[in-house]
Amino acid sequence: MKFHFILLAVLFLLYNGVSGVGSDVVPVSVIKGGSVTLNTGVQTNQQEVIKWYFNDTRIAQISGDLSEICTDVQCEDGDERFRDRLKLDHQTGSLNIMNITDSGLYELKIISSKSSSDKIFRIAVTGVSAAERDEVKRKSVKEGESVTFDPGVPVIKKPNDVTKWYFNDILIAEITGDQSKICTDVQCKERFRDRLKLDHQTGSLTITNTRNTDSGEYKLLIIINNSSFSITTVKRFNLTVIAVPGSGLSSGAVAGIVVGVLLVFATAVIYYRRHRTHAAVPQREDGM
Ligand SMILES: *[C@@H]1O[C@H](CO)[C@@H](O)[C@H](O)[C@H]1NC(C)=O
Ligand SMILES: *[C@@H]1O[C@H](CO)[C@@H](O)[C@H](O)[C@H]1NC(C)=O
Ligand SMILES: *[C@@H]1O[C@H](CO)[C@@H](O)[C@H](O)[C@H]1NC(C)=O
Ligand SMILES: *[C@@H]1O[C@H](CO)[C@@H](O)[C@H](O)[C@H]1NC(C)=O
Ligand SMILES: *[C@@H]1O[C@H](CO)[C@@H](O)[C@H](O)[C@H]1NC(C)=O
Repeated sequence: MKFHFILLAVLFLLYNGVSGVGSDVVPVSVIKGGSVTLNTGVQTNQQEVIKWYFNDTRIAQISGDLSEICTDVQCEDGDERFRDRLKLDHQTGSLNIMNITDSGLYELKIISSKSSSDKIFRIAVTGVSAAERDEVKRKSVKEGESVTFDPGVPVIKKPNDVTKWYFNDILIAEITGDQSKICTDVQCKERFRDRLKLDHQTGSLTITNTRNTDSGEYKLLIIINNSSFSITTVKRFNLTVIAVPGSGLSSGAVAGIVVGVLLVFATAVIYYRRHRTHAAVPQREDGM
């Protein structure tokens, strides 16, 4: 009896030890300030409870029937650390962490009446200075010049990764794996015509022959899409296109052009008349 009990206890410990070692640890590396979505890989079927922990503190929970949902401070043992920066997907229980700052272990527990499972994401937040992170890069060019926005970070091109460029929140260019699209909608085409160029290797966007109406906010989204998680990095660029006097058809420019055309015309008329008088003289001589 006693022996059996000890054997069971040993087996129990062994089993737990082994399953602990074997539990899935997914390494994730994110640039500070980025956004990460950690996937559960399940569709909740109203049976299970999904719990998320950060370094052993519960930060989010969802029960399949949605009767119990909490994130961060709403969960009784959550703290202020993630205030308003967590979102739970109600269908999958996947956790989105915005503006991430904390490295550590993010643990997922899925508990149902039949079984429970465990998954750990070891997130390493790599530093970028706060100034750099929140910086909106500003650029200004003279009308007619070209401008290039450079992501400044490697754009990884796995088939599921996506690089997107927006102008004032309108999608203007996209690289997916080794495919790229520029200006697929009418609004974009009307605005930019054939003035956008996308560099496949670097992800950089060039606008040629800039116009005053190109001024505004350009946003770059780099989405790294793994089956277990996805990471979104955002970069912003503000462009000011400076009008150059005379480059557009201002009233002054129009007046200048009109005067120029008149001068050329007048010169041509004078030249023609002189030439004709000259040419007419020998003709008369011939006739004599
Ligand atoms: C990101 O978080 C930091 C520190 O928590 C904060 O100072 C900053 O304003 C946040 N940025 C955004 C875009 O929410
Ligand atoms: C979370 O745990 C990791 C080690 O696993 C540690 O490096 C980190 O400082 C912890 N973070 C907080 C905020 O406790
Ligand atoms: C960038 O442009 C957007 C939209 O034009 C504007 O709302 C924002 O204030 C600008 N930011 C900076 C830092 O210039
Ligand atoms: C991420 O990849 C999955 C397939 O692995 C796909 O279903 C999903 O649409 C992708 N997400 C994005 C944002 O591309
Ligand atoms: C997802 O990320 C993990 C760890 O970071 C890596 O081992 C795995 O190969 C990645 N999978 C895909 C489809 O990129």
